Amino acid sequence: MQGIQKYFAGVPAVRNGSLSLQAGEVHALIGQNGAGKSTMIKIVTGAYNLDGPQDAGGIRFEGREVRFQSPKQARESGISTIYQEINLVPFASVAENIFLGREPRRLGLIDWPRIHRDAQRAVESVGLSVDVRKPVSSLSTAAQQMVAIARAVSVDAKLVIMDESTSSLDDREVDVLFDVIRRLKADGRTVVFVSHRLDGLYAICDRVTVMRDGQTVHVSAMADISKLDLVTTMLGKELAVAHRKAGSHKPVAGLAPLLKADALQAAPKLRNISLQVHAGETVGLAGLLGSGRTETMRLVFGADRPDGGTLHFNNQAVDFNAPSDAIAQGIAYLSEDRKIEGIFPDLSVRENMTMVMLPQLAKLGVVDRAAQMRIVDAFIARLGIKTSGPEQPIKELSGGNQQKVLLARWLALSPKLLLLDEPTRGIDVGAKADIANLIHSLAADGMGILMSASELEELVSMGDRVVVVRDGTSIAEISGDGLSEQSIMSAIAECRSAHASEAQHG
Ligand SMILES: Nc1ncnc2c1ncn2[C@@H]1O[C@H](COP(=O)(O)OP(=O)(O)OP(=O)(O)O)[C@@H](O)[C@H]1O
Ligand SMILES: [Mg+2]
Repeated sequence: MQGIQKYFAGVPAVRNGSLSLQAGEVHALIGQNGAGKSTMIKIVTGAYNLDGPQDAGGIRFEGREVRFQSPKQARESGISTIYQEINLVPFASVAENIFLGREPRRLGLIDWPRIHRDAQRAVESVGLSVDVRKPVSSLSTAAQQMVAIARAVSVDAKLVIMDESTSSLDDREVDVLFDVIRRLKADGRTVVFVSHRLDGLYAICDRVTVMRDGQTVHVSAMADISKLDLVTTMLGKELAVAHRKAGSHKPVAGLAPLLKADALQAAPKLRNISLQVHAGETVGLAGLLGSGRTETMRLVFGADRPDGGTLHFNNQAVDFNAPSDAIAQGIAYLSEDRKIEGIFPDLSVRENMTMVMLPQLAKLGVVDRAAQMRIVDAFIARLGIKTSGPEQPIKELSGGNQQKVLLARWLALSPKLLLLDEPTRGIDVGAKADIANLIHSLAADGMGILMSASELEELVSMGDRVVVVRDGTSIAEISGDGLSEQSIMSAIAECRSAHASEAQHG
């Protein structure tokens, strides 16, 4: 791809983009939120055209000048893409999703036995053990991401493009994905890999292209650029470090916690969850995929109902019937699945950001527009949201910037307790540091925060304490000097081996 220029309503998304791939390599494409990575990808696949008056550029694929008119055409030419926003059909089965649009037929009829058999093999090849007859909507976000990966690699493609495919994966699934990428490469296929997790890139990528502000600013062998230089090139400046006074917060002995969960249960996932969050404290929830982190947050938020156990908030026993009860008490929840639970794509940045606080903004049923605009402008500036303005439909923002709008939605409520499920998903390293600083300052002002993150490094740098969850049970709590990635990992592992020997003994 050369000399790419792509404008939306006069605003450049890509100003001077280039991307050159050698056959059989694994190529990293990186850049800040809104740099133009997904736009470049959508241009190759024909999801976006270059037909506008200000658009320009040329694309060659296997030596031929091409201009795919649709993702389907690109797919038929051997380009398989996993888009940043997982685009599976939620109520169709895993198998149907894997074979969507290319169902094998026998005597003119869809060959279901073959679909189920091949789909089962495809999901197993990415280390996922699920029943392929189940609807995709019954799977966690991470498992859905693995299904999208299984679909992309099961197509016999020459070029496989993965846009942010690791964002909701734990370290263990990331390893599986890297094995899949190594297999693709060994098969002579070319892979483009977009990720904000820079550490992993060195393990699998041969070369790297860095974009900044719509332009390609660096291309080199992966091994020829240090992580520090990579970050600086990407941001156009040095990374601001997250400031945090270690041990700055110690819950006063005897002070009642803001949130206290005792032996919470909810079939089928949660068996026994106990934890506390004090005002001014950031507590991390650690655990593997499917361990029960999301379910725990949903219970606290009133999105699901417990079968047993007790919940205290602000010194009172509470039993929320619905999220609105929890919100009324000062609890906010940023869910991990922004596509299904969070975003209203056609509404503006302003509407998406302020929808939960409308009751507060309304006087006698009329929304105080000036107050609303003050809040929206403040959060666009504070979180560095890249948008042409408050009235831009949120679907036009880059993935990471959509996530920032959702985060702002809940921060703007000034809740007493903030539940954050994967708050930095898809967010670039520069903005992550900004968000970490923001969370520290909110905690310093007395907010209690319970957060999960699939990257342990984030839990360690942001949390005062970490509660480890396994199999729907809170099994350990780590705090103070003992808190490290290593200690969290061994807490998870120890319990796993204890569990394994328990199983052996019947
Ligand atoms: N359909 C669209 N309409 C208007 N603007 C758009 C559209 N698609 C992308 N943009 C703009 O183009 C710019 C680049 O977005 P893009 O999605 O390519 O970023 P990205 O590098 O993938 O970022 P992220 O890491 O957050 O996913 C952004 O400013 C975005 O708002
Ligand atoms: Mg993107």
